[in-house]
Amino acid sequence: MIEVASKMTVSLNKIGDDNRVVANTKLDEKLRGKLGQFMSSSAVSSLLAQMFETRDGEHRILDAGAGVGSLTAAFVEHVKNSASSIDSTCFELSEILNEYLANTMQHCAKHCESVGIDWKSQIINEDFISHSVNSLLSDDFKPKYNKAILNPPYLKISAKSEERKALRKVNFETGNLYSAFVGLAIMLLENGGELVAITPRSFCNGPYFNDFRRLIFENCSLNKIHVFNCRKSAFKTDKVLQENVVFHLTKGEAQRKMVVVTSSSCAEDPNPNIFEVPFADVVSTNNPNRFIHIVTSKEELSIAHRAGNLPCSLSDLGIQASTGKVVDFRTRENLSMDFVEGTVPLIFPQHLQGASLKWPVIGGKKPNALLNNPNTSSLLVKNGTYVLTRRLTAKEEKRRLIASIYSEDIANVDVVGFENKTNYFHAMGQPLEPLLARGLWAFLNSTLIDKYFRQLNGHTQVNATDLRILSYPDMETLISIGERVNISIFEQDMIDQIIEEFI
Ligand SMILES: C[S@@+](CC[C@H](N)C(=O)[O-])C[C@H]1O[C@@H](n2cnc3c(N)ncnc32)[C@H](O)[C@@H]1O
Repeated sequence: MIEVASKMTVSLNKIGDDNRVVANTKLDEKLRGKLGQFMSSSAVSSLLAQMFETRDGEHRILDAGAGVGSLTAAFVEHVKNSASSIDSTCFELSEILNEYLANTMQHCAKHCESVGIDWKSQIINEDFISHSVNSLLSDDFKPKYNKAILNPPYLKISAKSEERKALRKVNFETGNLYSAFVGLAIMLLENGGELVAITPRSFCNGPYFNDFRRLIFENCSLNKIHVFNCRKSAFKTDKVLQENVVFHLTKGEAQRKMVVVTSSSCAEDPNPNIFEVPFADVVSTNNPNRFIHIVTSKEELSIAHRAGNLPCSLSDLGIQASTGKVVDFRTRENLSMDFVEGTVPLIFPQHLQGASLKWPVIGGKKPNALLNNPNTSSLLVKNGTYVLTRRLTAKEEKRRLIASIYSEDIANVDVVGFENKTNYFHAMGQPLEPLLARGLWAFLNSTLIDKYFRQLNGHTQVNATDLRILSYPDMETLISIGERVNISIFEQDMIDQIIEEFI
């Protein structure tokens, strides 16, 4: 523990960091993941603190899931030459961390005292979710905070969990602790209050975070976003492989026209790239689910405009993207390693090799076929031409989106199965026209669409919903692309050249 009197000359960031390093050695390694105890370094903490716009006056700051208090310490350091008072509230469940948190707060108190800032603090050793829901529902609830700083725990919360039940009482449906913490912090903020948080990037798109995004945009202006160019960079000492994003919101303020997007290789980077983007390019008015589109440069914005302004949705084209219906472990008794009498081809991701399809894979780990019987018939689709993509790509794989064509001449069968870790494009339940499928294949495999997809999608999964929200060329253009492209070999340059010509 760092003695309070001895370190007055040391910055509060350094105090937080020292406490973090010592506290980390005391935590149970196995429980850390469960409690989401991955703490902010001093560089991450000051990056967050520096996002706040108001330094002077009275600060009533919430730090939910405070750990050892590094974020509050960095905030105090940031405002200490201008603030008149700071009233800090930290929520932290861990008894071990609470000791260090109390020590960091004592240092903050001493620093404030030395520069004439009124300091008040309280540490609440309770569950932030139930405590906040109770306050929000109490008759005398009045927003208390005008600042919130958060690096919340990141953990899924199941639909039946106590947390979800509590959140429903304040009309908030969300499946992760981090969105629960940030959502509640928004509710607890007063109008004009600022919130800065570092969280996974996953909330930017996908249906699971619809309610969280609704809460953000109905209550706040999204003003600044910071992204790290490398997946490891925010929590590199904790070996967290997660794409993180830092954002700044102001509650009760009309959405500003421009959003400031900064990016850096890591939190220590002294020269982050700064790019101002119109809000309309960050959250498209065409998208009712308000996906957040992070563009960090002119080049990325031009990609977003080209790909985002294509004329058709999938349903305009009479096409649908679906997840493969065969869940292998639910139909184990019907799986077959070999394509034998009574079976039909079953396509797993292992069959999608690069942008082509290899079936059967003899000697592979996965089955090649599925018994065709009354129990499996509803899982099968008519044999024909389909475009398939893998739902998962490896973390550092070059392309996020890779499409392959399945064609009916693979086997003399009436029906075929697509496994659940694949997505398939079909004409509303029917096979696709071969030329259209070839055009779609080239379009999805183009660098333009891969780059655009990465802007929209912060994780390595490719869900059918992600494919549904892309914009596509019209039917005629896709067919013309299909006529030009050679699907037997995948040549990126050739595909990109053809796409350039048509789009
Ligand atoms: C990701 S850590 C971040 C700690 C600190 N904010 C930082 O940036 O270093 C999240 C913290 O939330 C705490 N926590 C987890 N669940 C909590 C809950 N329900 N209520 C309050 N704190 C919680 C964990 O013990 C952990 O210290």
